[in-house]
Parts: sequence; C-alpha cells; structure tokens
Amino acid sequence: MVSFKHIYATFTLLVLLSSTFCFGFPEFNFRWGHGRDGVSRPIGGGRSTGLFPGFYSDSCPQANDIVMSVLERAISKDSRMAASLLRLHFHDCFVQGCDASVLLDDHPTFVSEKKAVPNKNSLRGFEVIDEIKSKLEQACPKTVSCADILALSARGSTVLSGGPNWELPLGRRDSKKASLNGANKFIPPPNSTIQSLLTFFQRQGLNEVDLVSLSGAHTIGVARCTTFKQRLYNQNGNNQPDSTLERSYYHDLKAVCPKTGGDSNISPLDYTSPVTFDNTYFKLIMSGKGLLTSDQVLLSGNVGKTMQLVKAFADDHTLFFNHFARSMVKMGKISPLTGYKGEVRKNCHRIN
Ligand code: HEM
Repeated sequence: MVSFKHIYATFTLLVLLSSTFCFGFPEFNFRWGHGRDGVSRPIGGGRSTGLFPGFYSDSCPQANDIVMSVLERAISKDSRMAASLLRLHFHDCFVQGCDASVLLDDHPTFVSEKKAVPNKNSLRGFEVIDEIKSKLEQACPKTVSCADILALSARGSTVLSGGPNWELPLGRRDSKKASLNGANKFIPPPNSTIQSLLTFFQRQGLNEVDLVSLSGAHTIGVARCTTFKQRLYNQNGNNQPDSTLERSYYHDLKAVCPKTGGDSNISPLDYTSPVTFDNTYFKLIMSGKGLLTSDQVLLSGNVGKTMQLVKAFADDHTLFFNHFARSMVKMGKISPLTGYKGEVRKNCHRIN
C-alpha cells in the first residue's frame, strides 16, 4: 500500500530535483536569437544565476502588466521618468549587485546609497517604484522583490521610449543592507577616461561591448551642468575647453552652463531626441556632440574596439538595439540574491 510517507518522500524528491534543475544549470555559451515579435531571447540558456523569465508565472502572473500600467501613466506625466528609472537599475546593479540596495533609506547599521556622490540630487523615480510596489503588494503580497521591480521598470521604460524589448530573467531578492562606500567606489564618474570606464565595467563582469551598448542608454534623459562643466572651461587643467567638443555645440552648452553658478541646470544627453530611445546618441558622438566626457571618449579614447562599436551602432540601429538588450540582461544578472538569500521587502525603503 502506498502510504502518506511514500507520497511525501516522492514529492520532496521531485521538489529537490526541480530546484537543482532550475538553480544548478552549468554555464552555457550565451547566444541570442529573435522571435517574430522582435523580443531578444537567449539560445541555449544563459549564465547560471537562478533567475528565469517565468519566475512569477504562478505567483504573480500580472506583475509585468501592473508595472507597465504605472509606468505608462508616470511617463506620460513626466517624459524624463523613463530615463530616470532606467538609470536606477544601473546604479542598483553596480553596487552589491542587483539587489535594490539603492532604494534603502538610512538605517542604524548603514547609510543610504542615495547619499553617495553619483546619486545625491541626481537619482529620481523613487516614488514611481513605490507606487508599483504598493500595487504589487495589493495584488500579490510579499511576492515581487524591489530588485525585480527595478529590472522590470528599466525594461518597460526602454520599451515605452521606443527601444528594444527582451525576455527578462526574474527572481532577484532584496538585500538587507546598503553600501554608501560601494556607491561612491563602483559607479563610474562622468569625467572618466576610456581606460577607467573599461575597468569599472570589467569589475562587474562586463566587457567593452557592454560598455558601449549600455552607454547608449544616454539616448534618453538629461545631465546637470556640474557633470560636464569641466569640459567647457578647464578640461585638462589649462583653462581650455575639451578639444573633442564640436564648436557650435560647445557654444550652446556654455549658454546652459555658465562658468560660475548654474550647476543644477540641465542639458539633454541626446539633444536631437531626448525622450526617444534610438541610435542618435551614437550619431552625435560621431560628430563631436557627446555631452559627457564618458560619452565622447568611447570614440576619442583611441581604443579600437569601442571606436568601431560607436561607428557600427551609429550606422545600424538594429545592431545597437540587439546589443543593448543583451547587455541589459547581462547587467541585470550581476550578483543577484536568490533562493533563501536576502528577502522580499514589503516596503522598498526599508528592510522587513
Ligand atoms: C558608462 C558610464 C556612465 C557614466 C559615467 C554615466 C554618468 C551619468 C551622469 C553623470 C548622468 C547625469 C546625472 C546628473 O546630472 O544628475 C547620467 C544620466 C543618465 N544615465 Fe548614465 N552613466 C553611465 C552609464 C550608464 C548606464 C550603463 C546606464 C543605463 C543602462 C545609464 C543611464 C543613464 C540615464 C538614462 C541617464 C538620464 C537620467 C535622467 O534623466 O534622470 N548610464 N549618467
């Protein structure tokens, strides 16, 4: 006779086998294909992180729809919001991995990353993440992590701005700590040389292709004067402007960003189409109109591979879209917390 004990033992074995399968896949080569819907999908699996696109298929099938409906409203009210949300995911992933550490407020045991130099008076979109989180808590309590909300919002913002779509691995959990030091140390500054940009990205397991394609996020959004002022007035300590800056663009920027004051004035990163996700960012770099040093050095830094990629992406927007999608998936896999690590925060601002 089959006893309850037998059924229970068989069930436990099946659970163990399926979790080994889901979480224990060996490393595969990463190749990509495209469905007829234009969505990028990995062929033959990806890096073994424990993340997978169907993570919420049973527990919260409506998760992405909820994210998209909040995004649509937020972006229609404030067209810059898509850019701000895309950037939040980047600033999350480069510090302790994609674990929503960037969303934590001060706590007795750590200081918020929001106070770090690259983030202070700069990161935005927290209230949109809060709105998504509260809607998700109503629909599927204690299920969708803040880290996945950031990843879903970054993809949704890209799509709603006219950019590529991709199949997004999910299942990230939220950290119980933040790192102010990490945020100051691991997020590249705007006056970086090409060599230092490559090093910042290599530290995260990202290569020169990822650097160039992900920099293409600067096809939307704006930067404050303080992040590019040095280029206008004293790029190399000789009181001269950056020689790689195109002349008429240089004069336009000086009008926005005077030598003294105006540090919070803003200028689009891609002034030809600041709310449309397209490849004009790369075309602008080709004509000396990259806004930040870190944008222009992708071409002027004299590193063969990054120069070639800027040209290739300027020539072929589909090539850029495909690479951007692939690199976003790769960035989204930086050191996620999975399984029993971390937690699913109830409120993205604080640990449970
Ligand atoms: C390559 C190194 C990078 C550097 C040095 C850099 C630097 C910056 C700076 C200085 C700003 C303006 C911030 C301000 O003025 O407050 C900015 C804005 C932005 N960055 Fe980056 N960034 C880099 C890579 C990335 C990546 C990888 C992404 C996303 C995948 C990204 C997405 C954005 C977006 C969308 C904005 C506009 C945000 C808004 O308008 O609110 N950046 N970046």
